[in-house]
Amino acid sequence: MLKEWSDAYCIGIPEIDRQHRGFFEAASRLYEQILNCQGERGVEEAIAFLRHYAERHFEAEEEYMRRHGFPGLAEHLRLHVAFFESLDQLTYDLEVCGPSQHLADVALEVAQDWLIDHILEEDQAYAAYV
Ligand SMILES: [Fe+2]
Repeated sequence: MLKEWSDAYCIGIPEIDRQHRGFFEAASRLYEQILNCQGERGVEEAIAFLRHYAERHFEAEEEYMRRHGFPGLAEHLRLHVAFFESLDQLTYDLEVCGPSQHLADVALEVAQDWLIDHILEEDQAYAAYV
């Protein structure tokens, strides 16, 4: 099931919130493709988008946490690295097995489950600290 953006995900930092919305939009695009049995066609682009977008987004978050002296920075960095590891796994599966509707499902799960938990818990934590 698609998890859609709602104000509950707002952490109150406009730039970061806008970027978080971008992830939800990417997940929604992939979800539509899966529903239309076009996951195989869309998954490669979706994974590339997630990587590119996460690089910029995490950089912005990390810069923000540094600037405000957030004490949980090191732990938060570790979580960002873990997300890239999930993406590495997806990229590997893509290279070895090729694109598929199944891989699109897995990519959607990574994008949604990881991201939403992360926003709700970890990103809210640094926003609350600041
Ligand atoms: Fe984060």
